[in-house]
Amino acid sequence: MSKIKIGIIGAGRMGITHYSIINSHPQVEISSIADPSGLMLSMMKKYLPVKTFKDYHELFKKDSPDAVLVCTPPNLHNDILKTTFENKTHVFVEKPYTTDLNQAAHLAHLFEKEGLVNQVGYVNRFNDVFKEVNRLIKKDVIGKLIRFKSEMFSCTIAEPDDGSGWRSSREKGGGAVYEMAAHAIDLVNYLVGKPDKVIGSNLNSIYSKKVEDAVSSTFVYKNGCSGTIYVNWSDTAYRKPTNKIELFGTKGKIQADQHSYKIYCNEDDPEQGFRKGWNTRYITDVFENVPFYVRGNEFTSQLYHFIDCIQTSEKKSLCSFSHGADAQEVIHRIFNDYELNGKA
Ligand SMILES: NC(=O)c1ccc[n+]([C@@H]2O[C@H](COP(=O)([O-])OP(=O)(O)OC[C@H]3O[C@@H](n4cnc5c(N)ncnc54)[C@H](O)[C@@H]3O)[C@@H](O)[C@H]2O)c1
Repeated sequence: MSKIKIGIIGAGRMGITHYSIINSHPQVEISSIADPSGLMLSMMKKYLPVKTFKDYHELFKKDSPDAVLVCTPPNLHNDILKTTFENKTHVFVEKPYTTDLNQAAHLAHLFEKEGLVNQVGYVNRFNDVFKEVNRLIKKDVIGKLIRFKSEMFSCTIAEPDDGSGWRSSREKGGGAVYEMAAHAIDLVNYLVGKPDKVIGSNLNSIYSKKVEDAVSSTFVYKNGCSGTIYVNWSDTAYRKPTNKIELFGTKGKIQADQHSYKIYCNEDDPEQGFRKGWNTRYITDVFENVPFYVRGNEFTSQLYHFIDCIQTSEKKSLCSFSHGADAQEVIHRIFNDYELNGKA
């Protein structure tokens, strides 16, 4: 079988992370990189056997990859995805997919219709603990969901920010909602479903001048379930980005993060191996091995899944553009709710 030719667009933090992971795949050849930064390109040229381009249009014209990984600032994703579609190329794009709500569902439709693999980097969907929590909810182990809270903390912006980078501009896809809360929102969409209503949204600046550093919101569902999100990217009590979720149901409750979960069962559940009361499981109890480890198994699992979907055409992406569009819709509802109702 010939190798899948991959191009990487955007060679910053995530571009390099994904390079190192996908480069370990035996059926993949990374053939090209596009990034306007002269510094990045000269380093790539010096150390890696790839073609380099300042303009991503040239990457498509001169290299014709089978698939691309898009790892640029979020506001550029939309135009790059359009060009990717015109070139009939499979694509993995980093979250938050696109900042353009109007294009989100349209792009999802185009790629699906054309049979092109489309995946968004909502990496929690590939974390072994969250996958297990999803399985337990589907098996009705904690019964009907009543309440939840989804939280994410990091120390990304831990001092006054000069406002010059893309992370300090909402138009470019920066701010705590796009950068961090997108993960907490997608985790809710994955485990509970897309909310029917978004209320009580609040945005706080801590260090940033132009964007929010913290966000909270309440999600309401027609079936009576409700829950909150709270995300803070200026919390120095956390060294690494941490997602936490708690779900309360009629038969018990679950508390989970990327590394372990605790489940409280109202009754013994011999089928799942849980006793009445608290049960603790660590990621080492539930993980699937990956051939190469960077940052967490889930980062490798998501890219290997992308390659799997390209190789096995009947396989559907576990985190497609339509999942990305769902998260995008909730993000916009939070911004709208805050503008309309959130200010005192
Ligand atoms: N899944 C995760 O855990 C996670 C973590 C961090 C960032 N991200 C996402 O990854 C994406 C990139 O974030 P990052 O931290 O790598 O940012 P970064 O600033 O480190 O890198 C962005 C790169 O894109 C390049 N770039 C800018 N314009 C370009 C263009 N027109 N064509 C090609 N390249 C261009 C920049 O020169 C830079 O090298 C964002 O969407 C971000 O939200 C995801």
